[in-house]
Amino acid sequence: MNKEETILDQIWDELAASLEVGGHPFHIFSISTIFNNKPDSRNVVLRNVNRNNKSVTFHTDTRSNKISQIKNDNNVCALFYDSAKKIQIRAYGSISIETDELLIKDRWKQSKKMSKLCYLHKSAPGKKIDNAKDYLYDEDDLQDIEVGIKNFSVINIKFNKIDWLNLSHKGHERIIINFTNGDNIKFEWVAP
Ligand SMILES: Cc1cc2nc3c(=O)[nH]c(=O)nc-3n(C[C@H](O)[C@H](O)[C@H](O)COP(=O)(O)O)c2cc1C
Repeated sequence: MNKEETILDQIWDELAASLEVGGHPFHIFSISTIFNNKPDSRNVVLRNVNRNNKSVTFHTDTRSNKISQIKNDNNVCALFYDSAKKIQIRAYGSISIETDELLIKDRWKQSKKMSKLCYLHKSAPGKKIDNAKDYLYDEDDLQDIEVGIKNFSVINIKFNKIDWLNLSHKGHERIIINFTNGDNIKFEWVAP
């Protein structure tokens, strides 16, 4: 494996590791979408990595604003940063809402109780409420936590380009990795 291929291999290894290793810096990442021609960013939790398909997955509330943004414009930029290794990954691609019902059910089943509770909130994320805690679920809802699946969405991001930056006192390094040409991956060193 040459240096460029090794970098790409490490990117996938680290993304996958973040699913297993507590506190891994890639576990939380930021995604930017477009709303009314303006950028909008937020942090999400990385839930799955598919190296073969060059995609990653997170979960969200179907009622959240990002859902309508994704439906309107599927361009996305995902941002990861490992402060210990000083590695930034900017991944560009297309974002889509998972439609495979069995897969969605499976992801819901695998979710922890704490995560499931988020999908039971009375109000949609971003909806105006009178008091800070007005969104909280009722005691009655807690008896049937499984109804939360109606608000549960699985979101996939398929990468077509990665911009990898490694800050180093020996000299920074930056490489652009292009996936657009099927399995023919193109590597391009650029000035950091
Ligand atoms: C550390 C952290 C992790 C988060 N993880 C998620 C997540 O996995 N999914 C999600 O929808 N929102 C997550 N959020 C909340 C989002 O950042 C955002 O506030 C919310 O989804 C509403 O975004 P929207 O209005 O753009 O849809 C997280 C926030 C933080 C601070």
